[in-house]
Amino acid sequence: MNRNDEKLLNFICKADDKYKIDSDFYNNFRVKRGLRNSDGTGVLAGLTAIGEVRGYIIDDGEKTPINGKLLYRGIDTKDIISNMLAEKRFGFEEVIFLLLFGFLPDAKTLAEFKDLLGNLRELPDNFTEDTILKAPSPDIMNKLSRCVLSLYTYDENADDCSLPNMIRQSLELIARMVTMTAYAYQAKRHYYDRDSLYIHSPRTDYSTAENFFHLTRPDSSFTELEAQLLDVLLVLQAEHGGGNNSAFICRAVSSSGTDTYSAIAAAIGSLKGPKHGGANAKVIGMMEDIKANVSNWADKDEVRAYLQKIVRKEAYDHSGLIYGMGHAVYTLSDPRATILKKNAATLAEAKGFTEEFNLYSLVEELAPQVFAEAKGTNKPICANVDLYSGFVYKMLDIPTELYTPLFAVARIVGWCAHRIEEVIGNGKIIRPAYKSVCPREKYVKLSDR
Ligand code: COA
Repeated sequence: MNRNDEKLLNFICKADDKYKIDSDFYNNFRVKRGLRNSDGTGVLAGLTAIGEVRGYIIDDGEKTPINGKLLYRGIDTKDIISNMLAEKRFGFEEVIFLLLFGFLPDAKTLAEFKDLLGNLRELPDNFTEDTILKAPSPDIMNKLSRCVLSLYTYDENADDCSLPNMIRQSLELIARMVTMTAYAYQAKRHYYDRDSLYIHSPRTDYSTAENFFHLTRPDSSFTELEAQLLDVLLVLQAEHGGGNNSAFICRAVSSSGTDTYSAIAAAIGSLKGPKHGGANAKVIGMMEDIKANVSNWADKDEVRAYLQKIVRKEAYDHSGLIYGMGHAVYTLSDPRATILKKNAATLAEAKGFTEEFNLYSLVEELAPQVFAEAKGTNKPICANVDLYSGFVYKMLDIPTELYTPLFAVARIVGWCAHRIEEVIGNGKIIRPAYKSVCPREKYVKLSDR
């Protein structure tokens, strides 16, 4: 420990109790912690016509759990997915159009739109060299927010918050996100992991999912099944209502009148958190930990005992969280997890991961019981999208450090739509209140302390 560290530690010890607020105050002042009502439902903070997340019904003031539903511009995502799979075509680009413009494109419009996106995927001249390769980051999410902020300087009309300009910026960002993710990953592999550097140019004729594999794999190879599955994941993660942490952050930042790049960079920072998008990578770490510490993966008692240790903060990352479980809105089921689980089961069988898939299912089955015991409640808790998304990525041989960035490649669509809706449709700065509970003190002259 050097002298500066010692000094700092001394200040920190004195500040130790300065960040703790007596939990009685929250009750006394009826603070809605986490912007949540007492029954766990979110405080109504706005209106949106972009995405709808349904996990319960309120009837006569009573909250009744239901199977989850996710709708984009009023259309059930289940129908979007089943249709695109039946027609064996990629759906993410159609969803981008739907979320941004508000209606389903006809075949000709969709073809033109895909063409447009394809032409926007290249990064500006020298951007890769100057912004990505010269300043790599060990963390791709960190690099992504810096890339987005840097794009501000390449935009001659960066601060214009008119509808056409925001749509133009959104489409450029959405199209480039996969390219930036891939290059940020390549830079990380090269400069931090001492691997060879691969920079492939994006292909204009490829979908986002195809481009992801093309840009990240040294030989650019991928199968149709891989691209199709990744496309399903992108569709499922493109949007999740106005109240999810990153969309709300994006809306809050946008409401100040700031530029698109600042708002999207902030949303990326939010998604990085382990309670939000970062959970998909955390799930893999947790499952590896379970696999290493449970001798029989099919033994319910042994798995249950380990989950109890996790909840008691005695195992894994000591956060007490079972990653991939629980949701602020969904109660009985998360529709994204339901769809992904089906895909994960098929892929697991094809790739020889059935035993591991069964362990995931067991965690899904046992975690609610473990919660009920630990918390003494019967509050329903279900698997969320991240329980199976990480597992699917793993079976697709996608490196763990790309799981959360891939979520960002998808969710940027929702962020952009929410930003536009906030700026155009609301127009009032988001500004809640905080009650000060700090006792009044007199200023003491320096010589008298
Ligand atoms: N592991 C441990 N505890 C959990 C939990 C989990 N997976 N999910 C919920 N809880 C706890 C909460 O911390 C809370 O405890 P508290 O009352 O002591 O503060 C209680 O159960 C009730 O939480 P609830 O209101 O149902 O959920 P939330 O809205 O506070 O949290 C999540 C929602 C998603 C943040 C939470 O479920 C979680 O952290 N899950 C794990 C991370 C994850 O998978 N995130 C991805 C979300 S898509």
